[in-house]
Amino acid sequence: MGYELKSARYLARDVLRQALPAGGIAVDATMGNGHDTLFLAEQVGETGHVYAFDIQADALVSTRALLEANGVADRVTLLHRSHADLAEAVPQKADAVVFNLGWLPGGDHRITTLCASTEKAVLSALELLRPCGVVTICAYPGHEEGTRELDMLVRLVSALSNRQYNALRQSFLNAGEGAPECFVIQKLNSK
Ligand SMILES: C[S@@+](CC[C@H](N)C(=O)[O-])C[C@H]1O[C@@H](n2cnc3c(N)ncnc32)[C@H](O)[C@@H]1O
Repeated sequence: MGYELKSARYLARDVLRQALPAGGIAVDATMGNGHDTLFLAEQVGETGHVYAFDIQADALVSTRALLEANGVADRVTLLHRSHADLAEAVPQKADAVVFNLGWLPGGDHRITTLCASTEKAVLSALELLRPCGVVTICAYPGHEEGTRELDMLVRLVSALSNRQYNALRQSFLNAGEGAPECFVIQKLNSK
């Protein structure tokens, strides 16, 4: 299969393949079942490291199993805490911080990311970036809290200094209302 312009997550991964080097440091702010954590662990390779957050204990159990099955568990730190604690919990600068908002597919829809903690986490993530590092955010405005998050993100990202960051919003224009969107923010080299 060739290149497919497929989904917000797909767009985020395209960016991460370019921006996250072998030996790099990455953060998965929303671990879920660990698919993004595994992707990041494979990208950074043996000499890199990934920090992954989730507030659900089940997420850590399924992610640990997935990482062990793929032989990459030793390069990942799993954190059972909110990404709102990102600044205190991650001890080093990062090349990439990844957010995949909303709830766990197949999980409890009441346990979803929330506008206030997402905002705090995104601001911390931007501070954590190395020059040329990226934050990617997949946002799902198809439900009430998701709409609030999208509005907050548009405000937050639009207000970033263009001397410090490049900021991109990608949306599928013909996918109908509530379609996922992808934000990419890169810290400029000069900062
Ligand atoms: C859409 S899922 C993530 C999917 C995941 N990246 C994957 O590859 O399977 C969103 C996840 O965010 C988690 N979450 C919700 N609020 C959170 C918070 N404050 N801090 C960290 N994770 C949170 C949920 O528990 C859920 O597992």
